[in-house]
Amino acid sequence: MAKATSHWVCQNCGSSFSKWAGQCTACSEWNTLVEEATVSAAPKGLGSTTSRSGNTRAGRIDFVDLAGTSDAPPRRATGMAEFDRVTGGGLVEGAAVLIGGDPGIGKSTLLLQAVCKLADKYDAVYVSGEESVDQVRLRAARLGLATAKVKLASATSVRDVVAAIDRADAPDVIVIDSIQTMWLDTLDSAPGTVAQVRASAQELIRAAKRRGTSLLLVGHVTKEGVIAGPRVLEHMVDAVIYFEGERGHPFRILRGVKNRFGPTDEIGVFDMTDRGLIEVPNPSELFLAERRGDVSGTAVFAGVEGTRPLLVEIQALVAPTSYGTPRRAVVGWDGGRLSMVLAVLEARGGLQFGGHDVYLNVAGGLRVSEPAADLAVAAALASALAQDPVPADAVLFGEIGLVGEVRQVGQTELRLKEAAKLGFGRAILPAGRSRRGSGAAETLARTEIGHVRDLLALF
Ligand code: TYD
Ligand code: MG
Repeated sequence: MAKATSHWVCQNCGSSFSKWAGQCTACSEWNTLVEEATVSAAPKGLGSTTSRSGNTRAGRIDFVDLAGTSDAPPRRATGMAEFDRVTGGGLVEGAAVLIGGDPGIGKSTLLLQAVCKLADKYDAVYVSGEESVDQVRLRAARLGLATAKVKLASATSVRDVVAAIDRADAPDVIVIDSIQTMWLDTLDSAPGTVAQVRASAQELIRAAKRRGTSLLLVGHVTKEGVIAGPRVLEHMVDAVIYFEGERGHPFRILRGVKNRFGPTDEIGVFDMTDRGLIEVPNPSELFLAERRGDVSGTAVFAGVEGTRPLLVEIQALVAPTSYGTPRRAVVGWDGGRLSMVLAVLEARGGLQFGGHDVYLNVAGGLRVSEPAADLAVAAALASALAQDPVPADAVLFGEIGLVGEVRQVGQTELRLKEAAKLGFGRAILPAGRSRRGSGAAETLARTEIGHVRDLLALF
């Protein structure tokens, strides 16, 4: 039998140590080591006495693992298009999905809505470890879902939940809200600790795989943006989806970061209202809704998220600094990339940002990661510095290189079509192999540029 030992586990990164220390040597966080008494072997499972009748099901899970190459795995679609797009077309049988996000961002709301929709077609269970059944029912009523056929349970014991899954009539879909409240009685440590979260998730995932149940785990994110209890959980599940948004903005973005059965570059867009989350099928309209075109320092970026075009406004403010070192602040974009674009504009375009604070913001609380946004960012910055507006009917896209060259990016036609659809008249894009557009994109005037100097000459 494995020897019982005591060890210290970092609650931030999950590293384990034989001695206590003030600082975790793995992730450099302070005061995160917590003593956990466990056996040195892997946590003892609960399922050793459970039935072995699930052989055919297990066969299907094997099939699912191979399926990425040929046939598509069987899926359970929620019918919420924004949700299904991110999961890759619905929940896979026996697969575990982790939904991470800040507390209060709307994870419980989203999953309650999704599971109520699933309950129309499937046997769906929502297990809350944070709220009583009555509280969940009240929330459902507020969301207009009082008549949904979902089954509700309030539980924190993994043993109870596994027992509910591990039956001949196992539910098709089960939501655990949240994994941090789940607790396994074979471990001494408190719920929410790394050991409990890891062992609880392992038991639940095992049971779900055995029975072909789709498992949705909610995980709270710590201030560092890591799913608490911790990265090991990300390795254990089949898909990791973040639910994000800026506090104060009603928009919420569902973003896949890992998916064994689907794409990871898709996003789902929702609007948080007093009656829950509303899907936003056309996010460009939403993100440009408050745009005023006649001011300097703004430019519209024609972006693509996964398979979907997304137009967003990039805003820049350039103001004389009152500090010794000018400030560079950025929201919704990469700070390193901003420094690079500024340096290129200075070195290759002849602009002077020294002595100026520079602020950059992606309007609407969206986070943009495409390098294709460089050109729109450069235009917003140059426009802010010169106090001269970018033409209001123009969209921009293109990557900027270190010698100031404007480089080709993918999905040109998709971007142009979306811009034409939303009434833009002109596109500023990289010179090169772009073909004449077909259909809607044909109405758009194209200004092709090869260098940032060409961009600065435009206005
Ligand atoms: P919740 O789903 O409980 O967040 P999480 O599970 O991620 O912690 O959402 C909580 C927030 O959402 C809370 O600030 C109130 C807001 N909210 C709405 O704006 N509209 C609604 O219909 C609901 C249910 C919540
Ligand atoms: Mg919640």
